[in-house]
Amino acid sequence: MRIGIIGAGAMARALGRGWVAAGHEVLVGARSATAAAEAADAIGARAGSIGEAAGFGDAVLLALPVGALAEVLGSVGALLAGRTVIDCTNAFAPDTAAPEGATAFVLAEDAVAERIAAAAPGAHVVKAFNVCAAEVWESDTRVFEGRRLAVPLCGDDPDALRRVATLTEDLKLQPIPAGGLHRARYLEAVSVFTVGLWFAGQDARAIFPPLEHAFAVVD
Ligand SMILES: NC(=O)c1ccc[n+]([C@@H]2O[C@H](COP(=O)([O-])OP(=O)(O)OC[C@H]3O[C@@H](n4cnc5c(N)ncnc54)[C@H](OP(=O)(O)O)[C@@H]3O)[C@@H](O)[C@H]2O)c1
Repeated sequence: MRIGIIGAGAMARALGRGWVAAGHEVLVGARSATAAAEAADAIGARAGSIGEAAGFGDAVLLALPVGALAEVLGSVGALLAGRTVIDCTNAFAPDTAAPEGATAFVLAEDAVAERIAAAAPGAHVVKAFNVCAAEVWESDTRVFEGRRLAVPLCGDDPDALRRVATLTEDLKLQPIPAGGLHRARYLEAVSVFTVGLWFAGQDARAIFPPLEHAFAVVD
């Protein structure tokens, strides 16, 4: 698959490296040609401009801060029509109500994926990879306590969801269908809540029983 990545930071490198290793053709595009070349060289991808990344492939990863989305989508949003757009962003802002000394976040915005879809008409947006840190996506460790690390996917287009599921499996992760794009806002909330627990030194994994003990089956 041809994958364009917009942004050349931690997420671009972490996910891009895995996709290159899986045999995909990846182009990293950034506003700085030097930064794009450095990131691309580091992961074995091609480098280009943001526009080249937007128009490169079947799938486009938006690896940008939320604050950059309006500007970037304003200039290249039209190029995304008909493509699978992977939104891994988080709109984290400091939680000013947290106790002094605590690191905690709130959401600066509650539905980023839906805003991306509105700003890029015709793009097939899938929310994915926003819950865990770039270091987790880059790691070789995929199975914890006998369970493969899972990636919830929210999106409306079946082909785009299949494509992102394949890209998830290529990273040796387990895709989980998690509903339409209207549910991506909950995935964004899960991320800020979970990261808050982790920063407080709590094991977020411990709050969920395994499915067979979850009593979530309709009687
Ligand atoms: N890092 C993580 O662990 C992690 C985990 C899950 C989700 N996320 C989310 O993934 C997204 C990317 O995170 P990241 O850690 O990869 O960020 P990062 O390392 O800071 O990289 C951000 C990239 O966006 C570019 N950028 C910033 N402002 C821009 C603008 N106005 N126009 C064009 N390009 C711009 C930067 O280019 P310059 O170098 O030129 O500024 C850089 O290439 C964020 O939304 C973040 O919340 C991150």
